[in-house]
Amino acid sequence: MPGPRSLDLIVIGAGPGGYPAALRAAELGMKVACVEKDPSPGGVCLRVGCIPSKVLLESTEYLSLARNRFGEHGISAEKVSMDLPKLMERKERIVSGLSENVRKLLNDKKVELINGTATLMPDREVKAYSGSGDEVLRGGNILLATGSEPVQLPFLPFDGRTVVSSTEALSFETVPRRLGIIGGGIIGLELGSVWGRLGSKVTVIEMLPGIAGTLDGQVARLLDRLLGKQGFEFRLGTRVVGSETGADEVTLTLEAGGKKEVATFDRVLVAVGRKPRIRGLGIEELGVRLDSGGFVAIDEKYRTSLAGVYAIGDLVPGPMLAHKATAEGVAAVEGMAGLSAEVDYDAIPSVIYTSPEVACVGKTEEELRGLKIDYRASVYPFAGTGRARCMGETDGFVKTLAHARSNRLLGIHIIGPHASELIAECVLAIHCHARAEDLRSSIHAHPTLSEAVRESASGIATGPGGRA
Ligand code: NAI
Repeated sequence: MPGPRSLDLIVIGAGPGGYPAALRAAELGMKVACVEKDPSPGGVCLRVGCIPSKVLLESTEYLSLARNRFGEHGISAEKVSMDLPKLMERKERIVSGLSENVRKLLNDKKVELINGTATLMPDREVKAYSGSGDEVLRGGNILLATGSEPVQLPFLPFDGRTVVSSTEALSFETVPRRLGIIGGGIIGLELGSVWGRLGSKVTVIEMLPGIAGTLDGQVARLLDRLLGKQGFEFRLGTRVVGSETGADEVTLTLEAGGKKEVATFDRVLVAVGRKPRIRGLGIEELGVRLDSGGFVAIDEKYRTSLAGVYAIGDLVPGPMLAHKATAEGVAAVEGMAGLSAEVDYDAIPSVIYTSPEVACVGKTEEELRGLKIDYRASVYPFAGTGRARCMGETDGFVKTLAHARSNRLLGIHIIGPHASELIAECVLAIHCHARAEDLRSSIHAHPTLSEAVRESASGIATGPGGRA
């Protein structure tokens, strides 16, 4: 009987961590297979995460602009409405188009895409189970890139109908009248924006004293205020301590400051974080070490405790972001090929696609205080730029944090129009260890929103104690 098929690399998971790693490995001359349990490649990000949520955010933002903002531009648009099935169809079309692109890229680079659920076996073997039978492969190396899954609340399990995860909240067939969201993090705020714009009364229940707890506090406070104006109701410092699920609604018992009350919703989205997707992968049985947080423990080359087995992305510690997974996947593969590749963990941007958008890179003011680093801060409002005024998008600011003596940039936090795009030059600046003077002396086109980035950095370079 022939033995298992041999490959140089087996990648498990064709998400934003796995498929770029497989492509890079093929470029480097490796014979690669990528095992993916879903029939369409792309992972959570492409199929039920970043991409479909951005489609819904984009379209509903147009609706909201037409309803609430066109008037100030002199445009009258009466009876603007949203065709929900059409919106969902567009989302599906974009998702399947992008997934086909991934399939084509893998195909063009001769990466074998195997549709099956993979389990790790001894001796660097991987068993791929699929409807059409099992296959065993042997890899010179194996890269685990299975990503993450939503955390469930023990007393409020997902039922896919009234109590849902982000996956189902991307595809409601009707607009829920009362949408409860447990967790005021990125998913809660983005999907709350979508359904709020479509007409839901959105209530966010967050156990911490503020929303988006990982953001710089000044940014999070403004975001809270602006989303509040859009109709979000925030129940902060509030825990869900009980629930009763009926046929068409869910009643939650909330507790805040020792007081209990009940609140009823048509749908409840539980968005309290995600956890590494390890179940069924067979790695614990083979002794792959996990850290105390349940993430796969790795060294600086993404090697797990099992020889020849690597792990990246949401499976390993660090922010659960698609672009971090991509960078790690490519670095892991380059490391296997003997190249020296590094991920710059100090310069990973993070974006929340609310309106306005939030984007940041580097340390927050709270983190710098905690680390006892001497810093200086400068905040420049978008209202100070001609472009933002022309657009009528004056809410928000750029906040720059730099080392007090060297002016080296330590963090840049943007809340405002197109923050997701503006952050790119800030990432480059921090990656290149730039100082505030470098941003100040780079010429920014006028009139653009990016002038706010330059002005914010100028506040450090030329402000009290500055050197420019
Ligand atoms: P998250 O970690 O961003 O936020 C979860 C929130 O739930 C936190 O504020 C936490 O304090 C709160 N929470 C936890 N348990 C709770 C409870 N029992 N009751 C009330 N509140 C509770 O997690 P989220 O929003 O689920 O997102 C998961 C991951 O997906 C994140 O790591 C995020 O980075 C990633 N993501 C990134 C996006 C982007 O880059 N734009 C978009 C969506 C998700």
